[in-house]
Amino acid sequence: MLKTVVCVSGGGTNLQAILDAIEQGRITNTRITAVISNNPGAKALERAKTHGIPGIVMSPKEYPDRESFHRAFTEKMCELAPDLIVLAGFLVKIPQEMVARFSGRIVNIHPSLIPSFCGVGYYGLKVHEKALERGVKLTGATVHFVNEGMDEGPIIAQRAVEVREDDTPQTLQRRVMEQAEWILLPAAIDDIANGRLQIADGKVRRKRNGDSL
Ligand code: GAR
Repeated sequence: MLKTVVCVSGGGTNLQAILDAIEQGRITNTRITAVISNNPGAKALERAKTHGIPGIVMSPKEYPDRESFHRAFTEKMCELAPDLIVLAGFLVKIPQEMVARFSGRIVNIHPSLIPSFCGVGYYGLKVHEKALERGVKLTGATVHFVNEGMDEGPIIAQRAVEVREDDTPQTLQRRVMEQAEWILLPAAIDDIANGRLQIADGKVRRKRNGDSL
């Protein structure tokens, strides 16, 4: 069983997609042991509660400085000792010490086709505002492993989504979620839980029939 901790900041629709996929057997071999949020009001925490999953609030605001938040957050994660950490709309940068401790075991979903519209300042609705401003005709989502950079880790999977002329940031966000995020993230977790993915030389390798990992 892949012990998984999901980190969330807001609505938690990606968390919901994971929970639904586990219930429906599209993700196997996986148990969500905790949901961590920086935001005590996150709807995602209610979703966790409904499923009997412990919700933990860890907000940088509760600490005198970033350094002590980073230390406490990393310690909490070490205590929970997950096999996999999933950033499902988590808008806090992961401390370097946590990246080092859980190297190759943290995945993130980002609502664009990386390397477009990503990095510092690109999160949530802002990503879609920028895509519309630039006038791209295709956007999408990316699931990737997390490294020391911002949205720079090895890419696991991407899915393209059409941009329509009458899109608003909200309609585009919804379509990217429905057609890409809620499909890609559960599929990646299932692949990891069932040994179909690994990182080698900084690249993601997918196991084909007959390959050994
Ligand atoms: C999702 O679109 C996710 O891809 C994005 O925040 C949203 C959270 O929605 N994440 C980022 O922008 C990370 N850089 P949700 O809480 O409903 O899953």
